[in-house]
Amino acid sequence: MSSRGNFSSKIGFIAAASGSAVGLGNIWRFPFEVANGGGAAFLIIYINFCFLLCLPLMITEIAIGRKTQRDASSAFAHLGFPKWSILGKMGILASIIGLSLYYVIAAWSFGYFLEMLIGNFSIGAQFNDYIKDVIKIGFYGLIFLSITAFIVSKGISGGVEKASKILMPALLVLLIFIACYALTLPNAFQGISFYLVPDFSEIKLPIIYTALGQAFFSLSLGMAIHITFGSFVSKNDNILSSASAITLTDVGVAFLAGIMIFPIVAYQSSGVIEGVNGGPGLIFQTLPSVFESLGPWMGVLIGSCFFLLLTFAALTSAVSLLEVPVTYLVDQHKVRRNLAVILMTIFIFLLGIPSLIGNGYSSFFTNFIQYGSEGTPTDFLTFLIHTNDVIMLSGGFLISIFGAYKWGKSNLNNEIAVGNPAYKGSKAEKLIKLMISYFCPIVLGLILILTILDRYFGITLV
Ligand code: PHE
Repeated sequence: MSSRGNFSSKIGFIAAASGSAVGLGNIWRFPFEVANGGGAAFLIIYINFCFLLCLPLMITEIAIGRKTQRDASSAFAHLGFPKWSILGKMGILASIIGLSLYYVIAAWSFGYFLEMLIGNFSIGAQFNDYIKDVIKIGFYGLIFLSITAFIVSKGISGGVEKASKILMPALLVLLIFIACYALTLPNAFQGISFYLVPDFSEIKLPIIYTALGQAFFSLSLGMAIHITFGSFVSKNDNILSSASAITLTDVGVAFLAGIMIFPIVAYQSSGVIEGVNGGPGLIFQTLPSVFESLGPWMGVLIGSCFFLLLTFAALTSAVSLLEVPVTYLVDQHKVRRNLAVILMTIFIFLLGIPSLIGNGYSSFFTNFIQYGSEGTPTDFLTFLIHTNDVIMLSGGFLISIFGAYKWGKSNLNNEIAVGNPAYKGSKAEKLIKLMISYFCPIVLGLILILTILDRYFGITLV
């Protein structure tokens, strides 16, 4: 399989997979989900899901990929379970849907980079009008997708790895800088206590399933991403430690994004954080005026660097999203890589148009669906986020069933032990077996059923 290319090193894989994980999910989506979910209680549930439920699933995905060295769809057939390739196909579908909404937010971010460059700090207050300019945003989205396509066309280690290795640390440094500054703002304490001091009376079913959906989205799970990446991982690599490093990095960046954003939200709302706008506009509405407060030069410098690096973080995630359907077309349908990239990119751009125009421009897509009988209608982009969550959670549920009961625990464990002989008989082995066989399928299955009943049928059992 050497013609498919491989990651050049373990660090290369961790960097690329973390590059996939760390993105808009951590910095754009995580803070508004925390805000909607009542703060610290959401955070605690989220972190638990990431380590107890998602990490074992990620390990399983990587193991399947590395064992088979194949794309997400043929991997299952290669293991002797052709029917399960539906799971790979679900992942491919989720990647396509995911990228179609992702590039729209990335386009906002890129647009904000340009606005910050010219010192237009009032853009935060004009956010709702800004995103209605669909020609401009669509154009930025096209640029973003074209760069993504270019990187993917370069192949696995040429593009993904190099880009991730340089840009991820830069983003981290900037996040830490802005977070430190945010902590010095008036009322920062209220923001931090909203974020870190839990009020468990806040926990309701929607918080639990959005936290899980967010964990999956942020870790790029249940979408065959890690199967695809795993297929390029060397047999000498330690899957357990790589997956742990990826999870830790991802959770760490999201956590930092919260430390950055909640003091700012509290500062702008004079300390009253409850009921603050927790929609997809949160970071775009709140950050610009904080950059302004840094003074004209610093504001332009830090503001533009922030949105540029955010766009880059989105790029490394988008690369992984596009890689999934492209690897599938190349491996299974023998399409030339460049052609596969071009076809997919055009298709995804078109698919994203309803998300693009559903932010005030087209009232049909802005008020796309009404869940239950009350409340305001949901826009198309948010509807896609929810739908994608359900596909990802279903993917994760099936992966755990597949790993534990079809491919089987012992095969799974054998593959995890390749490159990590000490794994055999270790505590980690027992724990992962337990999680994959019982905890993951039961908890995921239950939450999935409750989510679907609650969100789509308005039936709340808990
Ligand atoms: N994890 C990415 C983020 O947090 C998004 C993503 C989801 C990328 C699924 C790949 C697959 O932004």
